[in-house]
Amino acid sequence: MCGIIGFAGRDEAAPFLLDGLARMEYRGYDSAGIAVRSETLGLQVNKTKGRLQVLSDLIHGGADMKGNLGIGHTRWATHGEPNDINAHPHVSEDGKIALVHNGIIENYAEIKEQLMKYGVKFQSETDSEVVAQLLGYHYKECGSMLEAVGRVLRRIEGAYALGIICADYPNTLIAARKDSPLVLGYSEKGNFIASDVTAIIKHTRDVVYMDDGEIAILTPDSIDVFDDEMNLQSKEHSVIDWDVSAAEKGGYPHFMLKEIYEQPEAIRKTLSPRIREGKLVLDDFHMSKEYLQEISRIFIVACGSSYHVGMVSKYNWERMLRRPVEVCLASEFRYSDPLVDDKTLVIFISQSGETLDTMAALRESKRLGGRTLAIVNVVGSSIAREADDVLYTWAGPEIAVATTKAYSTQLVLMDLIGLYLADLLGTVSKEEYQTILQAVEALPEQMEAELKGLENVSYFASRYFNHDSIFFIGRNLDYAMGLEGSLKLKEISYIHSEAYASGELKHGTISLIEPGTLVVALGTYGPLFDKAMSNVVEVKARGAEVLALTVEEQLEKMQKVADSVVVVPGTHPVVQPSLGILPLQLFAYYVALQRGCDIDKPRNLAKSVTVE
Ligand code: M6R
Repeated sequence: MCGIIGFAGRDEAAPFLLDGLARMEYRGYDSAGIAVRSETLGLQVNKTKGRLQVLSDLIHGGADMKGNLGIGHTRWATHGEPNDINAHPHVSEDGKIALVHNGIIENYAEIKEQLMKYGVKFQSETDSEVVAQLLGYHYKECGSMLEAVGRVLRRIEGAYALGIICADYPNTLIAARKDSPLVLGYSEKGNFIASDVTAIIKHTRDVVYMDDGEIAILTPDSIDVFDDEMNLQSKEHSVIDWDVSAAEKGGYPHFMLKEIYEQPEAIRKTLSPRIREGKLVLDDFHMSKEYLQEISRIFIVACGSSYHVGMVSKYNWERMLRRPVEVCLASEFRYSDPLVDDKTLVIFISQSGETLDTMAALRESKRLGGRTLAIVNVVGSSIAREADDVLYTWAGPEIAVATTKAYSTQLVLMDLIGLYLADLLGTVSKEEYQTILQAVEALPEQMEAELKGLENVSYFASRYFNHDSIFFIGRNLDYAMGLEGSLKLKEISYIHSEAYASGELKHGTISLIEPGTLVVALGTYGPLFDKAMSNVVEVKARGAEVLALTVEEQLEKMQKVADSVVVVPGTHPVVQPSLGILPLQLFAYYVALQRGCDIDKPRNLAKSVTVE
């Protein structure tokens, strides 16, 4: 979604801003702009619809904009279509204040109406301009930027991360946050604000995460953070421990492909600190056996691919824990008057840690007295900080919009937690515990070997890329994995695709199968392989073209029915989806490549969804 960068320093600001925005392009956007202030030229603002390159060309790579104080923004349209005028920064009527905003101002319409009555003229259709104009109005009235910002923050409702500069304040960048992430970066060259550390990692690893309700004042030499009553805060610094190269393509044509191939290593990093001498050690997870025995309900709440991890985990956890586990879409859960109380464990899965629906569901669960555990990839993100406990997936920065390595690390981490809980509760035998743990430990090597042998996936993609509707079918864990395979395909290749539990097909969807329809049949789940096969036979009988996925052991049977078969290594059923998902990710990637799609930045999508 939208990206914010701001710089108060000693060097020219524009190149820093453009570079920071380029590093956040992956988040998804439709227009971009920057504002820079200099003593001689005052506030200069340039913004435009389309790719960042268009903006960069317009200002000759930043050379046309002078000054060492500035803000920049990439916009993902919500209020008002993507065009030059609706792009940020927005400027107050008197031209003195420029502002960038992430989030949504819920009461913007009433504020706009009031300001218009006072004669303020608006340029754009956005909720964000309302904040700029309100700021301009109060600044004119009180003559102090800080006082004006305070008044505005007390008036606006909704979510915001704000970056503000004023022509009258040579070295001052003001930032504020509520329900939308903002990080402060300290460097020799000056100080930064950013909505995503990726934007500033090239310049600094020394960061502070702003909390809700805080205001920060940055100069080239200092950053002061205040609470909403302007009390100075003492903030804890964090060190970003990943390298800038982790957020670069490193020779791969797309981030998505790079991230697919990074999965074995990401899983290694997620596992290694948690397995010691054949035993699971979850240092950062504090739940006693007694407490766990009292838990009467377990929910897993998430969106998109993270929800699909929840689907896999439901099957696995119920089997291992012998107690019900409910998986809920965060956007539904938060409004469903959920049955959460102090005997409920609610687990939130999120790569970004900023997904608004997941965040809201977390807050609702806490309000109802539930115990919350977050499975998050981005350190210091809002969900990670607000949950009672957090376990990180150490996937490193994930840049492609379509998740791959974050999904895989979530999957193994959920396997580990399920096994850990089952061991604590005594619902798995010692032998089973060891067998599953060994299967998990073997995953990185197995995945490395598997990735080397999946060349045929690009061939199958070139054979099937022009289908306009594709069905993924499977039973149990294969069904859960199919949901993710199908989402991957549709989000980056724009092919209509659906995942169905194989046994459910004949209750309606099979009417869509006609000669030539492509069905991706998933047959990696051993215990139900024969049942799944019957469903493959059913679609074949209706003329479907079948691309199947199975394990070596079942290859012969599958070859007799399917038109094409991809083989994946076999393992314990609990961890089989970790190996099964790789060819599905690659299939989506190569199909999208064949269709000439913008793989890393698919249309209409954003990396982290911070609006409802
Ligand atoms: O950051 P989160 O894991 O909370 O994001 C949830 C979904 O928005 C995300 O998984 C989305 O579905 C991806 N585009 C999937 O590739």
